[in-house]
Amino acid sequence: AAPDRESLRDLAVRVAAEAGDLAAEGQAGITVLDTKSSPTDVVTEMDRATEDLIRARLLAERPGDAVLGEEGGDDEGTSGVRWVVDPIDGTVNYLYGSPDWGVAIAAEVDGVVVASAVNVPARGEMFEAVLGGGSRRNGETLQAPPAVPLNLALVATGFGYFPERRVQQARVLLEVVPHIRDIRRGGSAAVDLTGLATGRYNAYYERGLHAWDWSAPGLVASEAGVRVGGLRGGPPSNDLVIAGRPELYDALDALLAPLGADTDG
Ligand code: IPD
Repeated sequence: AAPDRESLRDLAVRVAAEAGDLAAEGQAGITVLDTKSSPTDVVTEMDRATEDLIRARLLAERPGDAVLGEEGGDDEGTSGVRWVVDPIDGTVNYLYGSPDWGVAIAAEVDGVVVASAVNVPARGEMFEAVLGGGSRRNGETLQAPPAVPLNLALVATGFGYFPERRVQQARVLLEVVPHIRDIRRGGSAAVDLTGLATGRYNAYYERGLHAWDWSAPGLVASEAGVRVGGLRGGPPSNDLVIAGRPELYDALDALLAPLGADTDG
C-alpha cells in the first residue's frame, strides 16, 4: 500500500528541521573573506554534510526509498517512494550570510510529488505541504493573494551559472522588465517559490532549474493556489519553470513564449 502523505510530510519536516540546524551552525563559521581562495569548497562541504544527514535520516526510517539529491546523485529504491532533496538551495546567499537559503525535501510516489517541507532557518520559516491537503507556514494555512495584472506583478527570477546561458537570460529579461512592476533575483528558487504562497512575490520564472529546486517549494506554492508549470502551460522542467496565480501565469507564459525563454538563444 502507498504510504500516507501526512506521514511522509511529517518525516520531511522533521528531517528538514534537523538539517536546517546543521546548515545554520555551519554558516556561522563561513565568511566570504575567509574562503576567498576557494569560495565554493566550504559551501560544497556543508552541502554534502547536510545532504548526508538528510539521506541517513530518511533511509533509517524508510530503508526501501529512493533518494535524488543535488550533491549525491540517485540512490535507487524499491518502495515506489523517491525523495528529492536540495540540502542548501541558495548557496551563494548561504556563503554571503544572507537569509534567503533553505533546505528542501519532497516525497514523490510513483513520480508525483505528494508531500514536502522547506525550511528557511534564517527567516524562522518552516513550510510544509501535502498534495490535496494544503500548505502551511509555521503551522498556518497558506493561500496566495489573488492575481494582479502583469504590469503590477513583482516577478522573481534567477540566472544559471554559465555565461552563455546568462546572455540569453539577460536578453529575455530586457523584454520582460518593461511589462511588470519590478524584478527580483532572490538567489533561492525554494525561497522564491514559497514566497509566491505568502505574497512576497506575484510570479516567478526561471530557466535551468532541476527537480530538487522546484519539487518541494513547488508543492507549497501549488497547494496555496499558485500554478506551477512550464512554457505554454506544460509541466515544470529544466527548460523553464513558470509560477503564479493562473491568470498571471497565463499572462507571463504568453510574454515568455515568443522570447525563447526556454532556450539558450
Ligand atoms: C540555485 C538557486 C538559485 C537559482 C539557481 C539554483 P543552489 O540553487 O535556487 O536561485 O537561480 O538556478 O541552482 O545551486 O543554490 O542549490
